Amino acid sequence: MSDEQKALLLDSVRKYHQEIQEDRPFVPGVTEIWPSGAVLGVEERVALVEAALDLRIAAGRNARKFESAFARKLRVRKAHLCNSGSSANLLAVSALTSTQLGDRRLRRGDEVITVAAGFPTTVNPILQNGLVPVFVDIELGTYNATVDRVAAAIGPKTRAIILAHAVGNPFPVAEMAELAREHGLFLVEDNCDAVGSFYDGRPTGSFGDLATASFYPAHHMTMGEGGCVVTSNLVLARVVESLRDWGRDCWCAPGESNTCMKRFEHRMGSLPDGYDHKYIYSHVGYNLKTTDLQAALGLAQLARVDEFCATRRHNWRRLRDGLDGVPHLLLPEATPRSDPSWYGFVITVVPGAPFTVPELVDFLEERKIGTRRLFAGNLTRHPAYADQPYRVVGELTNSDIVTSQTFHVGVYPGLTDEMIDYVVSSIREFVKTYG
Ligand SMILES: Cc1ncc(COP(=O)(O)O)c(C=O)c1O
Repeated sequence: MSDEQKALLLDSVRKYHQEIQEDRPFVPGVTEIWPSGAVLGVEERVALVEAALDLRIAAGRNARKFESAFARKLRVRKAHLCNSGSSANLLAVSALTSTQLGDRRLRRGDEVITVAAGFPTTVNPILQNGLVPVFVDIELGTYNATVDRVAAAIGPKTRAIILAHAVGNPFPVAEMAELAREHGLFLVEDNCDAVGSFYDGRPTGSFGDLATASFYPAHHMTMGEGGCVVTSNLVLARVVESLRDWGRDCWCAPGESNTCMKRFEHRMGSLPDGYDHKYIYSHVGYNLKTTDLQAALGLAQLARVDEFCATRRHNWRRLRDGLDGVPHLLLPEATPRSDPSWYGFVITVVPGAPFTVPELVDFLEERKIGTRRLFAGNLTRHPAYADQPYRVVGELTNSDIVTSQTFHVGVYPGLTDEMIDYVVSSIREFVKTYG
C-alpha cells in the first residue's frame, strides 16, 4: 500500500471517529457512572488501524518503542512488555528464583512478605514459585503496609518483599527499599494500580529491584490486555526477558538472528558444542508476550497518561473535599511524601455505623453509581488459599475490616465534575437518612 493510500485511509478513520461521537448529556440516576474504564479517542483508533494496515502482528517495532518510552517514563533502564499485570508479577517473582542470581536467588520454601488485603495475583506468583507468602496487615486510610509491620515479619527465611501501591496510593517505598537493602532482601513494587504516582518526587516503580504495571482497561492506561516489568538491574532484565520468551537464552528480537555474533559458538548445559543459541533454554519459561497491535494502542495511551493522571487526581480531590466531614465514613489519605495517581476512591464505613456497606452500595448502584470492593479483602479468607502454605505476622484486624466495611467508587478520567458531584450528593443523602 502506498503512503498516500494509507494516509487517506487513516483520514477516513478520523472522520469516522468524529461521526460516531455522541455527546450524551449526563442524566443523574440513568447514566452509568462506572467505577473504572478506558478513555479511548481518535488517536487510539488510528493507531490500531495503522498497526493493522501494516500487518504487524507479533510483538515488533511498536513493542520495542513502547518498552523504551515506558522505561523512560518510569526513569528505569529496562521495560519488558507482557500480556497482563498478573503475568508481570509472575515474571518479576519468578526472576528472583533464577540461577543467574547465584546465592541471592530465592529457593523453594523461602519467604516473601506481602499484605493480606489486596489483589490475588500480587500473591499468587509467590505460591506458583514454591515460595511462602508471609502476610502482614495494612493501615486503614492509606490501605498500605507500614515499614514497621514489614520489619516485624522478617525472619530467617525471608528473602523478598512484594507490595502493591494500594489503589494508586504509594506505600512508603523509599523506606521499604532501605529496609530491604539493610536485610539483603529483594523488593518488588506491584505498580499495577499506580502508574503516574510519585514518592519523594520519584515515580513509583523506580524504587524496587523490579516493578510491574497492568494495562487492563481499568488501569491508568490500557492496551486491552497487557502488562510490563521494569527494572534498572540488567541481570534481572535479561532473566525477565528470557522467562517471558519461552525461557530462551538468546535475546535476538523476533525476525533477528546472530546479534551476539556467535550464534553457533555457545557451549551450554550438556548440549553439543555450537548448538543454535536461538534454541538454547536457560530458564523454565513461559510465553507471555503481547502483540504489536496492543503496543500500538499502548503508545497512543502513553502519550495521554499524564493528562489521565491529572484528571484522576482532580476527581479524587473533588470527592475528598465533597465528602469531608460526612459521619460514619473513613475517607482515604495520601501516604505522607507521596503524590498518588489514584486508581479509585476508597471508603470505609466505620464499624458500628448505623448502616452497612451492602445498604450503602445498593443505594448507590440503584443510582447507577458503580462500586467495587477493595479487591479480595483479606485473601486468607478465600477458598483458594485454604490449603496453601503461608505465615501471618500479627493480627489481620484491618484486613478484616476492609473485607466487610470497605468499597471504592471511580475516579477514572471518563468521569465529569457533574458525575462526581452526583456521587457526593448521593452518599451525603444516604448517610443523612441515618441522622
Ligand atoms: C494491584 C494489582 N496487581 C495486579 C493486577 C493484575 O493485573 P491484570 O488484570 O492486568 O492481570 C491488578 C489488577 O487489577 C491489581 O490491581
